[in-house]
Amino acid sequence: MTLLEIRGLGKRFGGLDAVKDVSLDVEEGRITAVIGPNGAGKSTLFNLVHGFYRPSAGAVSFNGRDITHSSPHATVAEGIARTFQTTHLFDDSTLLENVLAGRIVRSRSNIFDAVFHTPRHRREARINEDKALEALEYCGVGDYRHDLASNVPQEVQKRTAVAMALATEPVLMLLDEPAGGIPEEETADFGNLIRSLPQRGVSVLLVEHKMSMIMDLADTILVLDHGQKLALGTPAEIQSNPDVIKAYLGSTKQEEN
Ligand SMILES: Nc1ncnc2c1ncn2[C@@H]1O[C@H](COP(=O)(O)OP(=O)(O)O)[C@@H](O)[C@H]1O
Ligand SMILES: [Mg+2]
Repeated sequence: MTLLEIRGLGKRFGGLDAVKDVSLDVEEGRITAVIGPNGAGKSTLFNLVHGFYRPSAGAVSFNGRDITHSSPHATVAEGIARTFQTTHLFDDSTLLENVLAGRIVRSRSNIFDAVFHTPRHRREARINEDKALEALEYCGVGDYRHDLASNVPQEVQKRTAVAMALATEPVLMLLDEPAGGIPEEETADFGNLIRSLPQRGVSVLLVEHKMSMIMDLADTILVLDHGQKLALGTPAEIQSNPDVIKAYLGSTKQEEN
């Protein structure tokens, strides 16, 4: 089943087409990857899908519902979570507090409930904490739950960003370079975390620079170049596509570091 349908999506910044006429189907239970050189429009595509940017053209639908003009908050409520290329954690909060912040979107308590500690509020607080802890454990960082975000290693921060997204109970996760800054030898483990998500009912749209990780994880790969679709196919098809090889030639060294 197609979960996310992107049709003719475009975004112009001044005279620049950051994303131009991009169409893509993201299938349920799959890992779909978006690759391309720096500035190809990968993050912009995510920002368009997530409602952070308004598209200049095209449409996005999720589960058959038009979300082209939905706000990021509404998009999360629909079941699409994302992580950012630059990890956004509250430095002075613990990892548990960070993940709890992501639960707000699933809370029904209002300000009255919160101020007067109503049974509904207490019940929700307990559920939120359970779900946040489960997400941290799932991402392998449960032991760090009481540590401040600024005090934990980069990989723990990156895993916490995934936990934060997971705690919103998404159906689809947009991961923007989730393994950025993690040493190459530790990415296999991180890859296993991403690989496990579809079994949990979370389909994945992934941007990543580490080619070995992409080729290993992705079911389908969209290659962007200067905002446009260069190729779409399986890892094997993409690796042997002459246009892709040409676009990446010369940037191979940069991609591998
Ligand atoms: N908010 C913005 N304002 C102006 N230009 C932008 C903005 N965001 C991205 N761009 C430009 O759009 C292009 C695509 O950027 P981006 O989507 O971040 O690429 P990628 O994630 O593939 O590296 C780049 O040329 C970038 O400079
Ligand atoms: Mg980017």
